[in-house]
Amino acid sequence: MDLFTNLRPEKQTIRDGVTLLASFADTDALLKEIPALLAVSPVRRMLTPGGRQMQVAMSNCGPLGWVSEPTGYRYAALDPLTGNPWPAMPENFRALAREAAERGGFMGFEPDACLINEYTPGLKLSPHIDQDEADKNWPIVSVSIGIPAVFQLYGLTRGGRAENIPLYDGDVIVFGGPARHIYHGIKKVERASDARIGEKRINLTFRKAL
Ligand code: SIN
Ligand code: FE2
Repeated sequence: MDLFTNLRPEKQTIRDGVTLLASFADTDALLKEIPALLAVSPVRRMLTPGGRQMQVAMSNCGPLGWVSEPTGYRYAALDPLTGNPWPAMPENFRALAREAAERGGFMGFEPDACLINEYTPGLKLSPHIDQDEADKNWPIVSVSIGIPAVFQLYGLTRGGRAENIPLYDGDVIVFGGPARHIYHGIKKVERASDARIGEKRINLTFRKAL
């Protein structure tokens, strides 16, 4: 956290349905939970439906987990890597998602899935829309931990120029309503180091899948 990130407003509407809550999350508390989660379901590079390996390493916690496989995308109750349920969603994760959603204007958000994305410098997440949730009226709540990244917002199609939103440790983005149909991604992550986790960014995205 530097002087400039501290000058950002606490809450900023980026566009209709997209809210940035600057430094909203207590990432020390979140990081305390993560090793135990990843001991049950380690991060792994999933295969895309096109058969390519994704750059970003992923895992999940909660009753359901998002998985990408050569056969397609789905929410699964069992981790395909272990054959066992995903680890339970820690209570402070759940509470954070609920409170952030409320601040973004979405009351009663009870996520049933939390995707854990792990980035190292040089990795990016290509523009996409999240479409595998049953009810797109619920928002997605995205929490940044560790080194910074740039969130890229496009429009209703994949192309065009992105609006770039720098994300720092503790930042939370809530995107719901009309924003659920907006292409977004993460720009190639710059080299940096976090005192607790080193050259890494962990992103939690909370969803209501069912
Ligand atoms: C996502 O778009 O699902 C994740 C974005 C991020 O890593 O911040
Ligand atoms: Fe997404």
